[in-house]
Amino acid sequence: MTGTRWLITGGAGYVGAHVVRAVLASGREAVVVDDLSTGARDRVPAGVAFLDGSVTDASFLTGVLQAVRPDGVVHLAAKKSPTESVSDPLRYARENVGGVTALATAALAAGVERIVFSSSCSVYGTPDVELVREDAPLLPQSPYGDSKLYGERLLAAAARAHGTGLVSLRYFNVAGTAEPALADTGAHNLVPLALRALRSGTSPVVFGDDYPTPDGTCVRDYVHVEDLAEAHVRAAAALELDLSTATYNVGRGEGSSVLEVLDALRRASGRDVAHEVRERRPGDPARVVGSTERIEAELGWRARRDLDEMVSSAWRAAER
Ligand SMILES: NC(=O)c1ccc[n+]([C@@H]2O[C@H](COP(=O)([O-])OP(=O)(O)OC[C@H]3O[C@@H](n4cnc5c(N)ncnc54)[C@H](O)[C@@H]3O)[C@@H](O)[C@H]2O)c1
Repeated sequence: MTGTRWLITGGAGYVGAHVVRAVLASGREAVVVDDLSTGARDRVPAGVAFLDGSVTDASFLTGVLQAVRPDGVVHLAAKKSPTESVSDPLRYARENVGGVTALATAALAAGVERIVFSSSCSVYGTPDVELVREDAPLLPQSPYGDSKLYGERLLAAAARAHGTGLVSLRYFNVAGTAEPALADTGAHNLVPLALRALRSGTSPVVFGDDYPTPDGTCVRDYVHVEDLAEAHVRAAAALELDLSTATYNVGRGEGSSVLEVLDALRRASGRDVAHEVRERRPGDPARVVGSTERIEAELGWRARRDLDEMVSSAWRAAER
């Protein structure tokens, strides 16, 4: 519904900055809350109100929601490294679980009835199926994945108890950028890691080439961040019509191997980079690809951009 107002936590981050732009492009108003722990103030467009503070602070959030009176909240603010969560699980409990608890508390206090929650395919752990559907077993393998699953469940319980609306979006592997200034600066995902290696003159590392996949390397479902951002707008629109609860995979429903991503990088950069194969990393599943049937059927959303568009936009941003 054009003219509605959405508060976006984590709107100064990689995904959040794209969500803010998609929300604005849909004719809605956006307001950002972010503590800038990994985000950047200059990712928030001019004219969008920015409130600096932590989502773990329920009284700060309640004050913000009471002042801003949004029609809904897109909750992206969180820490996102599964590896870091293994070495510092309590930080992930404080930030991710604490953030969801504070948000649910503040939303209830301020009468905000709609939440779109940033979840992750890490709630599935190591699925043993070709295409993972939303009703697959939920067996996260890291405190990060646990924090996302708990977030989904807590928000769903609160939505049930108070008759409010919730959409949880389980992102698969996010890549690409709408513009260089919004690129992923974290060093957790394959595309930024490979770009970093390329730019520093080292070889991108492939962890394991003996998986039971067509070329022996891990297969993932990559989704362009602009497509992902548009899924949030579809979710917001659905909640504006109906205060229900739903969970959706957000991917392309198509797998790409590590070697296919590196080939896309060779095409984008024009450089014939050699990669280095190392031992498998513990806990890396061979294949994680989402079924997108549900989000297509219920929200009419489908990814439009392919792997080359993701990798070439990321390459152009790195070249800047
Ligand atoms: N990028 C991915 O591949 C991916 C995949 C699945 C899920 N997600 C989820 O998407 C969300 C956004 O991820 P991203 O890739 O944009 O990460 P990011 O680190 O770029 O963005 C997170 C944003 O949240 C802010 N933030 C963090 N903790 C905060 C707090 N306590 N209070 C207020 N602001 C806080 C950061 O400053 C940053 O701007 C996260 O919830 C993440 O778990 C990301």
